[in-house]
Amino acid sequence: MSGTVDFEIDGFVATITLNRPDKLNAVSREMARAMEQAVARCNSEDIRAVIFTGAGERAFCAGSDIRQLDEFQTLWELRNREDYCASVRRIRRPVICAINGYALGGGLEMAMGADIRIASETARLGAPEIKLGWIGGGGMAVQLSRSAGFSNAALMLMTGDPVDAQTACRWGLVSEVCAPDRLMPRAREIARAIAARAPIAAEHAKLNLDAAANMPAELAMRYELDLQTVAFATDDADEGRRAFAEKRHPNFKRR
Ligand code: COA
Repeated sequence: MSGTVDFEIDGFVATITLNRPDKLNAVSREMARAMEQAVARCNSEDIRAVIFTGAGERAFCAGSDIRQLDEFQTLWELRNREDYCASVRRIRRPVICAINGYALGGGLEMAMGADIRIASETARLGAPEIKLGWIGGGGMAVQLSRSAGFSNAALMLMTGDPVDAQTACRWGLVSEVCAPDRLMPRAREIARAIAARAPIAAEHAKLNLDAAANMPAELAMRYELDLQTVAFATDDADEGRRAFAEKRHPNFKRR
């Protein structure tokens, strides 16, 4: 993997780190391609939880590399460039985003592609594209209005001004705010808790939430019942009930 994205595995937990701290981890095309590789590894190996963060103390990610946007020959090329926000949404495993500083533009869009977000007290989350003369295109309005509410999303999109971590937490954009030195330990704690659960069930929970957000409610509820039935048919579900009866911790095998 290129030097712009680090990928580490510890047990069943993978950590993806955007690594361009001198540019506030702004996403270059090279970095967007490296993200694709990291996502492919998450989906092909026995990874049960993914932590997604940024290197350095100032930023998770300041969005697309603005200078590189001038390099596209046509608008169509720009339109069809590597879609790093969609890459995050393609991770099939549960993803915890640890926002360690600025999460702006595409950085915020990537964070919102994760399942769980926690933030450092120093984090600033924003949709600043309007200050540059355009708007986000990586799922900004859709995801922001769902997690922060319509009025708060409009405030962020139309002023371009960032909000601090506590405000983001109050609005439901992040789940928890931690002291900077507690951010990664807390992310690991959550990741390990998820990794100790039945992995197929955890991925079904992710599909279930996705359906809840995107399908008509009645259909999503029928689908939920089917997802439950499929999860119930796994060896891991047998193991869960057996372990309960035998009063021991289950040993889940992704089967
Ligand atoms: N694209 C390219 N480079 C970026 C960047 C981006 N999105 N965000 C920050 N950088 C670079 C800066 O150009 C600077 O590089 P340099 O030292 O070579 O000049 C470096 O990262 C540090 O940023 P700097 O602007 O000096 O830090 P600051 O503390 O003064 O300001 C921000 C921090 C986040 C307010 C400011 O960098 C900013 O507004 N960035 C753009 C955010 C944005 O609009 N994102 C959406 C893009 S679609």
